Amino acid sequence: MTTETENRVIYLDNNATTAVAPEVFEAMTPFLTRLYGNPSSIHNFGGQVAAHIENAREQLAALIGAAPTEVIFTSCGTESDNAAIRSALDFCPKRDKIVVSKVEHPAVLNLAKDLERRGYRISHIPVDTKGRLDMERAKEMIDDQTAVVSVMWANNETGNIYPVAELGELAHKNGALFHTDAVQAVGKIPIDLAQLPIDFLSLSGHKLHAPKGVGALYVKRGVRFRPFVVGGHQENGRRAGTENVASIVGLGKAAELAKAGIANENTHVKAMRDKLEQTILATIPSVRVNGDPEHRLPNTANISFEYIEGESILMLLDMFGICASSGSACTTGSLEPSHVLRAMGIPYTAAHGAIRFSFSRYNTMEEIDFVLEKLPPVINRLREISPYWNK
Ligand SMILES: Cc1ncc(COP(=O)(O)O)c(C=O)c1O
Repeated sequence: MTTETENRVIYLDNNATTAVAPEVFEAMTPFLTRLYGNPSSIHNFGGQVAAHIENAREQLAALIGAAPTEVIFTSCGTESDNAAIRSALDFCPKRDKIVVSKVEHPAVLNLAKDLERRGYRISHIPVDTKGRLDMERAKEMIDDQTAVVSVMWANNETGNIYPVAELGELAHKNGALFHTDAVQAVGKIPIDLAQLPIDFLSLSGHKLHAPKGVGALYVKRGVRFRPFVVGGHQENGRRAGTENVASIVGLGKAAELAKAGIANENTHVKAMRDKLEQTILATIPSVRVNGDPEHRLPNTANISFEYIEGESILMLLDMFGICASSGSACTTGSLEPSHVLRAMGIPYTAAHGAIRFSFSRYNTMEEIDFVLEKLPPVINRLREISPYWNK
């Protein structure tokens, strides 16, 4: 028998993915039912759909301070990262160096690894214990052999926000292009690309209440771009493949909602994050917040409960319907702390007990109170059986 509590879901994993907003779903529905034409068709039934794609492009461009012509729709953030970096390399054949940070998402880190196998040199900018970039090392690494610099706008695990304007200037001073993976930043903090030295920016629909399987790449006007997906003439010849019309329309609507609600991120969403974090710090011993307290997304808290395993915490929280993430990657049977926490030099006993709570506008203070009621007994229970805690 299931009880009401067991069925309840308290979703604090919004950096993994988000709920599709009801308004987004509503905007998409006609394109999954009546308006199924191909936007490239000559007939009006199909052709009329193209206008809706252009409307979505305007909505998305408005959210990031871009011109609509600077926006290319893609299938996801990962595709956008691939398209940007590979295109940048194509146009700099005499340069063989790529500079990234140590805390990039695998979408960039594993791409860099792949490119290394093809002969490129990769430099990884280190971070300090708060996850802040070592800008002195960045200045040394970015040189006249660098083709492209790629540093994320905000980190998915800690929420740290990185100095993309400064990095873009550094790249340009050395004749390199600058790409930022802004998958976690778009919709959470204001972005005005018109003012910034950024050549490429990646974003993803499912992180801002649009569906999975749609993303976009911003390419600054005047920056040369070679398509990653080659074929038909869609997206002005810059990304082939029949458009995912419903999802593109959904992403446009999600962007419009995000633009209207951006202030809410710093009030309602941040207030929930801060309440959870501060109450945990005040009431549970041996906890630490991972990340840069001064430059952090308003929706992310990465908290280490020392001397216990993050996975055990998640499993017990899951019994109450509370969804969060741990800072570990389960590889080859061993629970290794994430590359982000390792790069930060977080001690072993703290890295293993790291939990990421990430919030959205759909969370409520009542849910935070529920988590604060259930969490302390979970931590106590696990510490009672932890050999590290008892020692
Ligand atoms: C920072 C960052 N970059 C890229 C991605 C990949 O985005 P997508 O799932 O749309 O491919 C993610 C998803 O978690 C992310 O957090």
